Amino acid sequence: MCGITGYIGYKEAYPIIINGLKRLEYRGYDSAGIILNENENFKLRKTKGKVSDLEDKCTDLNTKATVGMGHTRWATHGVPNDINSHPHVSNNGKIALIHNGIIENYNTLKIMLISKGYVFKSETDTEVLVNLIQYMQETQQEDFATAVRYALNEVVGAYAIAVMEIDRPQEIVVARLSSPLAIGIGENEYFIASDASPFVEFTKEVVYLEDGEMATITLEGGVDVHKIKDNAKVNLIIQELKLSLEEIEKGGYDHFMLKEIHEQPKSIMDTMRGRLLVNEGTIQMAGILDYQDKFLNAEKIIIISCGTSWHAGLVGEYLIEDLARIPVEVEYASEFRYRNPIITDKDVVIAISQSGETADTLAALKLAKEKGAFIYGICNVVDSSIARLTDAGSYTHAGPEIGVASTKAFTAQLAVLTMIAIKLAKHKGVISEEKFNTLIAELETIPNKVRDVIKNTEEQVKAIARLYAKTSNFLYLGRGYNYPIALEGALKLKEISYIHAEGYPAAEMKHGPIALIDENMPIVVIAPKTDHYDKIVSNIQEINSRKGNVIAIVTENDTQVRNMVSQAIEIPDVSECLIPILASIPLQLLAYYIAILRGANVDQPRNLAKSVTVE
Ligand code: F6R
Repeated sequence: MCGITGYIGYKEAYPIIINGLKRLEYRGYDSAGIILNENENFKLRKTKGKVSDLEDKCTDLNTKATVGMGHTRWATHGVPNDINSHPHVSNNGKIALIHNGIIENYNTLKIMLISKGYVFKSETDTEVLVNLIQYMQETQQEDFATAVRYALNEVVGAYAIAVMEIDRPQEIVVARLSSPLAIGIGENEYFIASDASPFVEFTKEVVYLEDGEMATITLEGGVDVHKIKDNAKVNLIIQELKLSLEEIEKGGYDHFMLKEIHEQPKSIMDTMRGRLLVNEGTIQMAGILDYQDKFLNAEKIIIISCGTSWHAGLVGEYLIEDLARIPVEVEYASEFRYRNPIITDKDVVIAISQSGETADTLAALKLAKEKGAFIYGICNVVDSSIARLTDAGSYTHAGPEIGVASTKAFTAQLAVLTMIAIKLAKHKGVISEEKFNTLIAELETIPNKVRDVIKNTEEQVKAIARLYAKTSNFLYLGRGYNYPIALEGALKLKEISYIHAEGYPAAEMKHGPIALIDENMPIVVIAPKTDHYDKIVSNIQEINSRKGNVIAIVTENDTQVRNMVSQAIEIPDVSECLIPILASIPLQLLAYYIAILRGANVDQPRNLAKSVTVE
């Protein structure tokens, strides 16, 4: 939610900041802004719209400034318009601020500031903070960084901020609480950003601020980190950035989403690399091995997550209960937190999150930790807040996912959960050595099978997309392991094509959704050969009797369902627990091609953002 970036050094700041904003646009894209400090003058441009709209507004900027910062917004307080866009400047025109997060007590602070004569142009919480800094500077007579610190100590909420003062062109002050902030350290130049992507080509040295820390960045003094609360000095921990430019570019594809769908054979292989050791007959996962007693003796495992990651959690429930026979509950992080959940130190809580920054998941995890549960993370973004909070975890290693609709991170989450379930099953002694070996050998074939599914179904799915692109509603049905895949297929379609779509357990259809079925309703049924096959055949018959159009995902060489439906998309025959990964692929492609035909911006769907750092 909102991307922030900044530069201080000897190069022209404008192109570095604009380029950085483009890389951060996945975090929000309803408005954008930039401010540069040139010879102790602010040059500010901001606009509703995307970074490309901001560029249009900057054609007359004519600047060689070497310090500045930029923002790409996902609106929280105040509609997306030019005035509410960041950066915000204080009443005296001397302080500029960009912000990712929410100041929860902004109204109280605003009332106080208004009583002192401050005026506000925007509806944002951010404009309150920048004026609070001015107020602290004037009333406490302190230096700039101290004024920022005093202001932050008055604030309740979440933030990653960057602040500049007009008289100090050699300095940027940054701070974080619950929203990420990375500082890139180059030769006589420094970069700041919500993640490291804006500066990947400039430096491999990065510092990630921890919650409750702030840094003063100056050309003479470098990066000076302190605690926001008491100004205690914090030692600088410089890490090596393991991200390449190639990973964050489109690589010839029209969209990141399509690139990421096509990357899945590799990303799933990367997820399993060094872990799935078929020749040695083992799954190597240090996080599980080191804490296997916690898992094996857990009274229950609670999986918490949001959105697509929650769907992965549902598949995880099927996997862990079915294979390892440990009870699992799956919770929306946002609901879990607010219903006084029963958690004890005998529980294991697994958080699943691509970004590792989702505010609800993070907060739910903190609650579980407070209650003594052992907390485990399945995150894609290395060193993200959730990854750092957990007691142990397994990264998904899917590589950067930039398309807002999650695809490769989802299948990587499924691969991790599958490995965890099979490993726990073995340690618990509830599956035979033979079954273990068969499952891991089969899992190893999945990346190639995903490649086959993409190759064999993409053209067919494109043709199906043409048939249904103008439809207003879709229903997705699945049973067992494939019920969460039905939910995920529906979510993918609605978020990028804006078609209303619902996922249901197939048998639930007759308890309500069947009323919607007529000749205008396409219904995607995930109908592979499993123990539920006959039941799902009956469900398809019920749909046919009401003239619905069925698009079925079937096992290769299936004839029975194929003869009953309008379109049948084949996936390879694999064990039931591995079907979700394969069945997801045509559903991702269907959503993508329908969205393209409808002219939607698939990488940046309206109202959404990749990293949801507000609750
Ligand atoms: C949908 C999607 C979202 C995320 C959700 C959780 O395609 O990407 O539903 O899954 O916002 O995000 P993470 O996994 O980063 O916690």
